Amino acid sequence: MSDQVRIVEVGPRDGLQNEKAQVTVDARVAFIEALLAAGLHTVEVGAFVSPKAIPQMVGSDEVLRRVSRHAGGEFHVLVPNEKGYEAARAAGAKVIAVFGSASEGFSRANINCSVAESIERFKPVIARARADGLKVRGYVSCVLGCPYDGEVKPKAVVDVARVLWDLGCYEVSLGDTIGVGTPTKARELLRAVTGHVPMANLSMHFHDTYGQALSNLYAGMEEGCRVIDSAAGGLGGCPYAPGATGNVATEDVVYMLDGMGVATGVDMTKLLRATNEISKLIGRPPVSRVAAALNAKQRANR
Ligand code: HMG
Ligand code: MG
Repeated sequence: MSDQVRIVEVGPRDGLQNEKAQVTVDARVAFIEALLAAGLHTVEVGAFVSPKAIPQMVGSDEVLRRVSRHAGGEFHVLVPNEKGYEAARAAGAKVIAVFGSASEGFSRANINCSVAESIERFKPVIARARADGLKVRGYVSCVLGCPYDGEVKPKAVVDVARVLWDLGCYEVSLGDTIGVGTPTKARELLRAVTGHVPMANLSMHFHDTYGQALSNLYAGMEEGCRVIDSAAGGLGGCPYAPGATGNVATEDVVYMLDGMGVATGVDMTKLLRATNEISKLIGRPPVSRVAAALNAKQRANR
């Protein structure tokens, strides 16, 4: 597998949306700039969602405006509806992400509507974004299990992924929101979805609740998937996915890929610095095994 993987760094959004500590706009901008400096060019920086639902993402307009001056970066923001689209566009968004679910229970809890209703909400958002020259990414959550409905069949994922692709999303990110998947299931899922969305346009967004994310990513890579969503330090979670922990840690992904000879363009030392800084701010050490190992090694060498 000696080729390339594109990493979509979701720490500043998925990572911080579930933190108790309110991280200031200044600190979020500094975090994103540190990630860019580490070589992570595609960064999800915020969300234009209800401030009552996710107060942590308040100020995403300012964050987006400030980081947008970095010409080399591609900045993504979540948009659930036309109100969010208008705010994102006013803040200069060039890439937005709509987010749906393969399961009804999570759709209701997360965005207060059924899966079918969510698609109807996305249609005008995607159409307007494309007419305005923006790129649209599509998420499907709960692809390997739902905290409310339990098992999720690949067919339910295929149905939503196909619609998002047909509506014009350039990439569909498959979210194991609660991190329950195992490699065989991840593989079966990718095989099912790639019958309808090309593998080159799929991303793996795996949370690491049960410690399976790296194995699942490896299985997905064996199927040919080359885009991975991850969060520095293994930050992340969703307030509407009770019990779920963070995304797979970017450090863990980069370490695995480096070892496999797969290029990511990420500088581990700089990434570790970014992770350590945000961990200090939120008041707990990174859950990433690689960050813990490298920090311990640095302490021993001091
Ligand atoms: P709703 O209550 O059905 O919406 O919420 P509504 O249209 O009836 O509006 C209710 C209130 O929200 C109104 O304000 C609106 O103005 C306001 P009020 O009159 O009560 O003061 N509102 C908004 N405010 C700001 N921006 C907006 C917006 N829309 C309405 N865009 C809604 C529907 C989707 C808005 C709400 O449920 C919501 O914001 N949910 C947040 C969902 C969220 O951000 N979840 C976390 C991200 S998803 C995730 O983490 C999974 C992912 O990582 C992939 C994976 O891991 O699987 C992507
Ligand atoms: Mg997520």
